[in-house]
Amino acid sequence: SFYNALIPNQRYMSYINGLKITLLISFFAVIIGILIGILVAVLKVASVNYKMRWLSNICNIYVNVIRGTPLMVQLLIIYNLIFTSRNTNEIVVGAVCFGINSGAYVAEIIRAGIESVDKGQMEAGRSLGLSYVQTMRKIILPQAIKNILPALGNEFITLIKETSVASVIAVTELTKAAQYIGSRTWKILPPLIIAALCYLVLVMGLSKLLSLFERRLAKGDRN
Ligand code: ARG
Repeated sequence: SFYNALIPNQRYMSYINGLKITLLISFFAVIIGILIGILVAVLKVASVNYKMRWLSNICNIYVNVIRGTPLMVQLLIIYNLIFTSRNTNEIVVGAVCFGINSGAYVAEIIRAGIESVDKGQMEAGRSLGLSYVQTMRKIILPQAIKNILPALGNEFITLIKETSVASVIAVTELTKAAQYIGSRTWKILPPLIIAALCYLVLVMGLSKLLSLFERRLAKGDRN
């Protein structure tokens, strides 16, 4: 017929494929984001200690530009700058774009986690004869990690939801899949509501996991 109503199985597969791409992009983006975030946070914290202004300036530019401009604009710029060929892999495009974006937020999470540890801890380590790096590794970071891990979990949740923006660069993740099904069946709302429910289930499942994990961290703290 003129408009192609998808058979139920085709619809089902569209959701599944969309969901798969959403999860893969989020997963790899969070890994890229953590790698960039650790690097930037370490450079920032260390550049203060070693008095390297230029280094912290570069890190600040990255963090401020990423956090100060809309994700969608970044996505469009990176996509048109780097991924112009027709057969670029959607998952690679998404993971790189969202990873670069997430890195700035992760850097701030880690920096804030390190700075949340009382200043006296560094002083205590140094006066015991430990070096700056030793104090960081043995005293500061084990305490900082308790603030950092839960915040990283939240970043993962944010990423899962934000990946829906990738639909504007024609990545067929969950939101784009829902729009596709809506356009083919001429019923726009039901697929969007199904997509929303999928995100909701993912996010609630993940936050349940995270709160279990946090409780275990807190338990380890008490004994
Ligand atoms: N929606 C906001 C924006 O468009 C935040 C983007 C990403 N947030 C994050 N924690 N990775 O700028």
